[in-house]
Amino acid sequence: MALHRLTSVCIGVPNVAETAAYYEEFGLTRLDDDRFATVDGGEQLRIVHSPRRRVLELGVGVADPDDLDSAAARLAAAGVAASRIADAVTAVDPGTQVRVVISIADPVLQAAAPVIAQNAPGQADRGTARAEPIDRRDHVRPRKLGHVVLGSADLEASERFFTDGVGFKVSDSIADAASFLRCSTDHHNLLVQAAPVSFLHHTSWQVDDVDEIGRGATALLNKDPARHVWGLGRHHVGSNFFWYLKDPAGNFSEYYADMDCIIDDQLWKPEIWGDIRALYSWGPPVPGSFLAPDDLAELMAAAHGS
Ligand SMILES: [Fe+2]
Repeated sequence: MALHRLTSVCIGVPNVAETAAYYEEFGLTRLDDDRFATVDGGEQLRIVHSPRRRVLELGVGVADPDDLDSAAARLAAAGVAASRIADAVTAVDPGTQVRVVISIADPVLQAAAPVIAQNAPGQADRGTARAEPIDRRDHVRPRKLGHVVLGSADLEASERFFTDGVGFKVSDSIADAASFLRCSTDHHNLLVQAAPVSFLHHTSWQVDDVDEIGRGATALLNKDPARHVWGLGRHHVGSNFFWYLKDPAGNFSEYYADMDCIIDDQLWKPEIWGDIRALYSWGPPVPGSFLAPDDLAELMAAAHGS
């Protein structure tokens, strides 16, 4: 695969300092005023000023200069204007207005998470001992940026841009509504969904397991219960456990664990899902504000004014 990872995301918000403080609390490591790192992915988030909340830039990693040439050729063949700079190819998606930067990047090498012994019916694997997760006290630290979900004002154009142009593969889709796309072996690294205006729906950050999701989310909610959006639950498409929280600019941020992987493209059969049940296998009812964020009208007004 020419593409092998998401490298980083740059988010524009009106309230940089407040939003940056939130992501530090979320568990990212602050490198300086506006840049943040994950444990395994290195620098993966930048927060800059923008009159309305949005993604300004999304980074995708490739292995070598030949991959950059291929990406430039794909974008040209797809009729997309792209720039080749020293060691990157950049282009703007007309549907989401996001600038994509394809650059040469090291792979995300992840040390295997320790296997936690679990008791199950007829199988007392833990022996005579308390469960390990109950003694965790350290701050939850996301391992990597997993995926970004973008509202697109032109879904078809965005799908073409990201698949035919940039080189993402389609893992699954929801008819006329959204496409789950991957640039790695994760089920999805990007989801583009039809929307009346381009906006950032959420960024999603991988943690080791469902206990880390619970610990991370409850720590944030203990400080401010209004941050809750949706969770704990398990998605149907992608299979991951999730909990969504809201940053001070209105962007959702997700802790996730145990997402499907697509190791062998030949063995995966993309499906087209038809209704809301595709969204989750179990969890609280999906809140209306998850499907259409409360500030959508405000974002539309700001987009038309800018
Ligand atoms: Fe997600």
